[in-house]
Amino acid sequence: MNFPKIKQITCIGAGYVGGPTMAVIAQKCPEINVTVVDINEARIAAWNDENLENLPIYEPGLRSVIAEARGRNLFFSTDIESAIKNAQIIFISVNTPTKTYGKGKGMAADLKYIELCARQIAKVATEDKIVVEKSTLPVKTAQAIKSILDNVGNGVKFQILSNPEFLAEGTAINDLHFADRVLIGGDYLTEDGKAAMNALTEIYSHWIPKEKIIHTNVWSSELSKLTANAFLAQRVSSINSISVLCEETGADAEEVAKAIGSDSRIGDKFLKVSVGFGGSCFQKDILNLVYICRSLNLHDVADYWEHVIKMNDHQKHRFAEKIINTLYNTVSGKKITFLGWAFKKDTNDTRESAAIYVAWELLMDNAEIHVFDPKVTKSQMIKDLNYLAEQNLEFLSIKDQLLSKLVVHTDPYAAMKEAHAIAVLTEWDEFRTYDWERVYNNMIKPAFVFDGRNILNAKQLFQLGFRVFQIGKKLN
Ligand code: UDX
Ligand code: ADP
Repeated sequence: MNFPKIKQITCIGAGYVGGPTMAVIAQKCPEINVTVVDINEARIAAWNDENLENLPIYEPGLRSVIAEARGRNLFFSTDIESAIKNAQIIFISVNTPTKTYGKGKGMAADLKYIELCARQIAKVATEDKIVVEKSTLPVKTAQAIKSILDNVGNGVKFQILSNPEFLAEGTAINDLHFADRVLIGGDYLTEDGKAAMNALTEIYSHWIPKEKIIHTNVWSSELSKLTANAFLAQRVSSINSISVLCEETGADAEEVAKAIGSDSRIGDKFLKVSVGFGGSCFQKDILNLVYICRSLNLHDVADYWEHVIKMNDHQKHRFAEKIINTLYNTVSGKKITFLGWAFKKDTNDTRESAAIYVAWELLMDNAEIHVFDPKVTKSQMIKDLNYLAEQNLEFLSIKDQLLSKLVVHTDPYAAMKEAHAIAVLTEWDEFRTYDWERVYNNMIKPAFVFDGRNILNAKQLFQLGFRVFQIGKKLN
């Protein structure tokens, strides 16, 4: 197998991973053409929009990278076939949500989009190619891709590499520019495998120091991605479990996090207590891990990781319950204002956001939910709640009635006016700087704040007259 010099890279999937990753590759490798393709025409149109405000995802620093590379050597297109045909390297970066049907429902990753991509590559390719799995996938997916590609019988040879993405949303561009490591899994025991790994290494070496590019076998690479996310999520669930204890005992979870985080063996990252982790990766990857373990009859291992999610569910539920209990055991007819809907700050992504679950529980108790989020649209919020309702047949009949109680605002002060309580669901910086005295004066008394991210100045709010709840602290 002979790989020609890399002149064209194609990425299938122009989402939160594919878009920013390819933008940075194009920025750093001006001599290589990078084409990002997607079946979603509206998404591609948005990536091509003259007005950079209209890019389909919000990510700090992304606009300037796009401004630099787009039209030079970075292209967005819906012509998937040509893009596959012309490329020496094809990244697969399509979505792999948790299955919502059939075998493995609610647990396993749905690989139908990956399989479609593999079939399309197999159909179109006329020359040897390197296929890189970028989406998070269950261990052994590369094998499935390989089996599809190798069995089309047109003589084209493929090398499959696993190159998981470790960027976090909101800091994606910085994470891509200064990656802690780049992981490349391949068949390093064969010459062709090594050549493919070296070709991909060469691309990243344009800006990543060689010693940060790690080579492993394919399975180690796939499993490392799941394990990294499981470990990170586990830290959040661990500190959140301690937050429950703190609220009962009078210890302060932030003080505990600081005290344990200064042990260099533990470290201080991912110890921030919260209303619960969200995002497209943590829950999905752990469910995936659990599903794999169960399929291998490793039930004790599966149980261990499953508890990370159970703890997270508990944290979201506890927050909703705290609001209901504190508001005299009912929120029926009460205006509860959510500050934030995204799963974390600096992104418009809402997948698995704690806000969705907390909103749902409060809507079930007949609350009126008013929301302000600087980047999330009303249609997205409705989509999120609809999706949740559709997972549970019992909710379907009451869905429309509940959704009619969701009010979305573009002005935070209007959102908080005459509210019974405010709940902070996302840690957007601007929430700290609001005129909280003005907010207090316009609220129903007693005025409650439930800070699910511990970002507000609780002491100052208390002095203004608010009753303040923060995670892992006693109620002020
Ligand atoms: C994560 C991984 O960090 C990244 O490496 C991987 O590629 C994709 O999954 P992401 O989901 O974008 O990235 O965001 P992350 O910063 O990891 O946060 C995930 C969730 O955990 C968010 O809801 C965040 O608010 C929450 N979190 C994070 C906490 O509640 N406390 C913390 O200390 C850290
Ligand atoms: P991620 O966070 O993993 O990037 P997203 O959902 O943001 O996930 O993006 C995945 C993208 O992949 C979507 O824009 C979707 O339209 C695209 N996609 C899915 N299947 C295909 C396919 N067969 N061909 C091209 N694009 C696809």
